[in-house]
Amino acid sequence: MLLLRVASRRAVAASRRHLTVAVTGEVLLRGAARRAVAAASRRDLTVAVTGASGYVGSYITEELLKRGHEVRALVRGCDTNKEKAAHLQALPGADRLTLVDGGDLGVKGSFEAGLAGADAVVHAAATVVIGRDPSIASAAVDGVENVLSSLPSTCKTFVLTSSIAAVISLDKASLTFDESDWNDYSSLKNGDAYGFGKTRAERRARDHCKNINFVALHPGIVLGPVMTKPHTKASPVFVRNLLLPKPILNPNSAHFVDVRDVAAAHCIAVERASELDGGRFVLCNDETCASVNPVSLGKVAAEACPEYEYTADPLLPPWKFAIGKALSHVPVLGPRVMTEYERRVFEARTTLSNARAKNELGLTFRPHADTVADTVRGCVQLGIAHRRA
Ligand SMILES: NC(=O)c1ccc[n+]([C@@H]2O[C@H](COP(=O)([O-])OP(=O)(O)OC[C@H]3O[C@@H](n4cnc5c(N)ncnc54)[C@H](OP(=O)(O)O)[C@@H]3O)[C@@H](O)[C@H]2O)c1
Repeated sequence: MLLLRVASRRAVAASRRHLTVAVTGEVLLRGAARRAVAAASRRDLTVAVTGASGYVGSYITEELLKRGHEVRALVRGCDTNKEKAAHLQALPGADRLTLVDGGDLGVKGSFEAGLAGADAVVHAAATVVIGRDPSIASAAVDGVENVLSSLPSTCKTFVLTSSIAAVISLDKASLTFDESDWNDYSSLKNGDAYGFGKTRAERRARDHCKNINFVALHPGIVLGPVMTKPHTKASPVFVRNLLLPKPILNPNSAHFVDVRDVAAAHCIAVERASELDGGRFVLCNDETCASVNPVSLGKVAAEACPEYEYTADPLLPPWKFAIGKALSHVPVLGPRVMTEYERRVFEARTTLSNARAKNELGLTFRPHADTVADTVRGCVQLGIAHRRA
């Protein structure tokens, strides 16, 4: 973080020298200087996005196009399955979009063609599943290794879509976290392959990117509008299941963020990469920095969009959790019923700070209720729910 502060001071100082307008006051000068840095590097970048047709990747792609960049969107199988990236081709500014079929996290060299010529790479592809399967971790760790080893010489910036799973470490005495925290608790053994993989992948990328800019972004659970039906089965599934209705996964603490704010953060990271180099940023809306149980989404949705019906049934009600927890201590068999990680995650009350993202990225997070309402509307538009009779 010290490095970040020094780099940031240097960038601001450099841009001050080029300011030609007279401004009064230090605060105004800093704001103008920061905007000057951003403007100088904006709208002329070629940015490659891995996982571009996924939920988060699609909104990053949309925002990059909106801001005038050229985008190389890596989408596995898009040559044979035209539907998979049709929503990207329909985006405003898609004349600046190049679709590339390729980039498999498990296949060495498969990213090379897609990343060719990029000024910046946003690595959003991952197996986004919470569980103990080692393949979840290897998609993150081997995957980032594959992408890093294929970065072209033109690439000056690597932006990693990490997760709060690489920040929150459930073994800590205080469960209040910010960017100074690393998840050194999660492991394959205790059952959190996702958190383990995301943490290792970030460390690997940070080590690799010594001569280019590196920024890691750490979103909470991402909600908001959706472009396709598969998007509703990514993290918006928390809201989709309220509507269907199906039980919802109910860790004791969840932290949510709007997909549009996540996309904006990625673009800011790309555009102000030299100033932000080395930074990590927790992305979480203000209301859910404090611990929120996903079951509460039912109430938020009902208040924001009362015209639809919601059922907020927990996947793991307290009685089931109590049985699972008791059995989890039984030698050998126990972890098959409930892993140590699951035991902790269904009990922990975590708190996050999003101050750095607000202060250094200049983000204003959307209100949680608006995000939930837009998730509902997105699901409804795709025919997943209907108005109350
Ligand atoms: N959604 C959240 O709540 C959340 C929160 C924090 C961080 N994140 C991070 O955000 C990123 C995107 O997640 P998401 O929610 O957008 O998930 P998603 O909708 O499932 O998208 C994942 C993307 O990764 C691609 N992918 C998966 N396995 C791959 C493989 N073996 N090789 C190449 N590409 C592969 C998928 O492509 P295919 O369609 O070809 O499989 C898809 O484009 C991930 O890095 C995730 O860890 C997400």
